[in-house]
Amino acid sequence: MSRNILKTGRLTLREITPDDLPFLHRIFGDAECMRYYPGIKSFDETARWFQRLAFDSYASHDFGLWAVTDRQSGALLGDCGITLQETSAGLEPEIGYHLWRDHWGKGYAAEAATACRDYALETLGLARIVSIVRLDNIPSQRVAERVHRRREKFAKAGNADGSLVEFYLYITDRT
Ligand SMILES: CC(C)(COP(=O)(O)OP(=O)(O)OC[C@H]1O[C@@H](n2cnc3c(N)ncnc32)[C@H](O)[C@@H]1OP(=O)(O)O)[C@@H](O)C(=O)NCCC(=O)NCCS
Repeated sequence: MSRNILKTGRLTLREITPDDLPFLHRIFGDAECMRYYPGIKSFDETARWFQRLAFDSYASHDFGLWAVTDRQSGALLGDCGITLQETSAGLEPEIGYHLWRDHWGKGYAAEAATACRDYALETLGLARIVSIVRLDNIPSQRVAERVHRRREKFAKAGNADGSLVEFYLYITDRT
């Protein structure tokens, strides 16, 4: 059994297991879901992504990307969680979210990300939590605006060729 991390009104966030990878790869191998990423991933690339940002991260930091599941049925909807990412302030904890497209438009991403924000600040005791969003990823900006207090802009390598891309950095500080 994987460890439950958080419950919200409609969702349970739990640790990801290797059995979840085929479903999660539907998201990372899908051109529409990956529209604002440098490209789609092969199954091996998806497996390496979750090895680093879920399994290894759980062991090193006690956080990582978690499975977003329907609280009642247990159905897997996508992932949301906290990982260390490079920002203008260095390496810092960031909330990311990726849902299979049948589950967009229902407020699940904002519900999961808000719970992750509170977990980061209250349970983990972090001083600040952010989300990194491309300037053209409007659906993700809508989510981040619900979750965070303010935003800045910064540039980092983000294209397949390593060239610089501008991102919004959405920020919540512990008050
Ligand atoms: C980013 C992503 C998770 C956003 O999904 P989404 O469905 O648009 O976001 P939410 O689940 O929070 O839903 C928000 C919308 O659902 C609607 N909604 C429906 N029922 C709702 C409810 N009970 N509560 C809140 N919102 C609800 C809201 O009106 C809202 O629409 P609005 O923002 O136009 O007002 C999704 O587009 C995705 O997985 N994209 C691919 C991966 C990606 O780009 N990730 C982000 C990288 S930075």
